[in-house]
Amino acid sequence: MKYSRIIGTGGYLPETILTNKDLERMVDTSDEWITDRTGIKKRHVAAKDETTCDLAEHAAKAAMQAAGVHANDIDLVIMATTTPNQVFPSTACLLQQRLGIHGCAAFDVQAVCTGFIYALGVADKFIRCGSAKNALVVGSETLSRIVDWTDRGTCVLFGDGAGAVVIQASDTPGILSTHLHADGQYKDLLTVPYGISEGYEEMQQGKAFVKMQGNEVFKMAVNTLGRIVDETLHANQMQKSDVDWLVPHQANIRIIAATAKKLKMSMDHVVVTVQEHGNTSAASVPLALDVAIRDGRIQRGDTLLLEAFGGGFTWGSALIQY
Ligand code: ACO
Repeated sequence: MKYSRIIGTGGYLPETILTNKDLERMVDTSDEWITDRTGIKKRHVAAKDETTCDLAEHAAKAAMQAAGVHANDIDLVIMATTTPNQVFPSTACLLQQRLGIHGCAAFDVQAVCTGFIYALGVADKFIRCGSAKNALVVGSETLSRIVDWTDRGTCVLFGDGAGAVVIQASDTPGILSTHLHADGQYKDLLTVPYGISEGYEEMQQGKAFVKMQGNEVFKMAVNTLGRIVDETLHANQMQKSDVDWLVPHQANIRIIAATAKKLKMSMDHVVVTVQEHGNTSAASVPLALDVAIRDGRIQRGDTLLLEAFGGGFTWGSALIQY
């Protein structure tokens, strides 16, 4: 079998909602500023005892149900996350245990907001080379744990959630192509600068929070995503008009609108969830995809362009015949 196809999607958002009005009471900001600059109105936040794996479990079960597959059908689990439950085992292994999947390869992918696109690209390659038949690919994040809730420049942007897909080996497309990139020279523009092996003391002191040079990230994201649209279409010898739906990473409505403009696409054909979800990092693309499939906007046969940009910098895209 030459291709992989998406056969089911799922999503999950934690119950607690934090609105812009709530944030007005926490930092010096306003609903108007957040809405104008980002398009975000609210975001979901995990409960104290709710983990990245908990969110992933809900999303994965929904995707498996939609796909009509069971635990023993799954022969690859890839988890995209920046906020793993533990240092190890990987969150993919924790999820595998929750779902009763045994023995197949399970691992995490870390590419921040581009994580899901990376994970999908890797899973597609596993299937294309015959190493897997049914892959569970999940993006799940509890970003709220690495956000400084006193920093108005970042805390208004992020949210928690999980999205998942099951992809299956198929004779017909499918995932047409994936395009994955990174450039570590921009590592300091968007970072949590402390961790296990660097800045361990600061991490112990509870200082491991997202730091971002928002303006620089914004400019790079717009330019880079514009370029990857061209790269993806060129690789498939397709025109802009061939794309039915843009399913972008949900960081900022202005970045999303700039990519849609590059595609000469009306916003009616762009899946936008940023107003409801905020930036859920690796979860944002599969969550948006699940929303638009479940509400019936995306139909079988439609051509979808998925894209994302995140810390690293990393960026990537996937062109899909749904
Ligand atoms: N409320 C009110 N004022 C604020 C807030 C806030 N929440 N945050 C910043 N400001 C102020 C700043 O202090 C600044 O004030 P000053 O002019 O007095 O200094 C002013 O607003 C403008 O700040 P900018 O940072 O220039 O605002 P900008 O228009 O660039 O918008 C934003 C900021 C929304 C963060 C934007 O730069 C952005 O979206 N950047 C990209 C973020 C992104 O896409 N990240 C993607 C990947 S995320 C990941 O990989 C984990």
